[in-house]
Amino acid sequence: MTSIIADATLAGRGKGSYDWAYKHMGTLSKTIDTASSQVNFHGVKIGVCLHITKETSVLVMGLKRLGADVYLAGANPLSTQNEIAAFLASEGITVYAWRGQSSSEYQECIRNVLRGSPKIIIDDGSDCHITAHDEKEFVTQEYFGGTEETTTGVVRLRALEASGKLKYPIIAVNNAYTKQLFDNRYGTGQSTFDGILRATSLLIAGKRVVVSGYGWVGKGIAMRARGLGALVSVTEIDPVRALEARMDGYDIRPMGELSREGDLFITATGQKHVISKEHFAKMKNGAILANAGHFDIEIDVSGLEIISKERKTVRNHVEKFTLDDERAIYLIASGRIVNLVAAEGHPPEVMALSFSNQLLAAARIFEKHEEFQNKLIDVPTDIDELVANNALEAMNIRIDSPTEEQRAYGGSWRL
Ligand code: NAD
Ligand code: ADE
Repeated sequence: MTSIIADATLAGRGKGSYDWAYKHMGTLSKTIDTASSQVNFHGVKIGVCLHITKETSVLVMGLKRLGADVYLAGANPLSTQNEIAAFLASEGITVYAWRGQSSSEYQECIRNVLRGSPKIIIDDGSDCHITAHDEKEFVTQEYFGGTEETTTGVVRLRALEASGKLKYPIIAVNNAYTKQLFDNRYGTGQSTFDGILRATSLLIAGKRVVVSGYGWVGKGIAMRARGLGALVSVTEIDPVRALEARMDGYDIRPMGELSREGDLFITATGQKHVISKEHFAKMKNGAILANAGHFDIEIDVSGLEIISKERKTVRNHVEKFTLDDERAIYLIASGRIVNLVAAEGHPPEVMALSFSNQLLAAARIFEKHEEFQNKLIDVPTDIDELVANNALEAMNIRIDSPTEEQRAYGGSWRL
């Protein structure tokens, strides 16, 4: 690990990627520039547990510019880009991460972040928040509060809140309009195919692609699969979302049926074992499986291993499972978050919106933590609107404002 962190050549490459991302994150650079005259994080320790990518480096350097003392770990054992970890370390950030960690090394890196006694925690998936609440070493520490980046993290925190044990306020960044409409949908839609295509290099046109889950992530993936020429099918458990998928023009059926027909399966549910042994048993020879959800629980990989006589890596990020009847099923990125393991995650333009929300939410926690209750809080509307306006400005897009007459009409109950 130290060899990665101290590698100057790697750090130099990371600087190149940071510069590239910065140039394409106009929304975030604008947010940081404006915040630099309003937010003062001097002397504030911030623990950051995010996928360590070029986009994350722009956020972390922004927090540093505002005066924060940042302690950084990853959000997945396989998603860290070592060149970015090395670059950030060379810039004075305390980094605990490298690509290819074991689960226990990953967890220990999160503990190291908490050992730095951060007052604010910026998390993705809530492993850090849960550790702060669950492990004896950290429960007595005092925190101002935190933020959470993704749907699965928010679901876990809701459960913690319901148990009455949430001990600091957390802003659910995931739930901002300027986050989920763009990051979850367009970001994951594009980068999931980026990962699948880098790993397989196969044609999508004409293939039957089965997308599990029609939330924001599933919608983005289904949309991009259709754009690439696939025959797209969707599985759902929610009747409203199922109806929405149907009216958006997709074939919607149960996994039990679609498992026989799919060429490529992509999970995006946040749920456990959405593809399991009963489905593997029906799959076509050569079926390919990938997961875009936060955790590697959506495809029952151990179940697949049990019914296989051989598991072997056939190319980078592609494993072949051979079943007793000689059928082959291919798994991409070990069933982990495919866009971050087999590719570089979402593009910078979209992360600029998510990370503007992160930065402004962290600043709001810093400013108002004494007023907030220990609850999960939605992103305040003024932050969501500011991020949208910064994004429009960064993209040089102008829009109309209501006239006085329209304002009056909108506020009146008479026609
Ligand atoms: P969401 O809650 O909006 O959508 C999930 C959908 O899955 C829901 O419509 C739900 O009804 C459906 N679902 C649940 N169980 C199912 C089952 N057994 N079969 C079929 N459908 C099922 O969530 P989202 O924002 O779309 O996020 C989905 C997952 O992706 C989460 O784990 C989230 O954290 C993750 N995520 C990943 C990335 C990434 O970069 N890969 C980005 C954002 C979110
Ligand atoms: N989540 C999805 N894409 C990401 C990226 N590029 N950087 C950090 N977190 C991400």
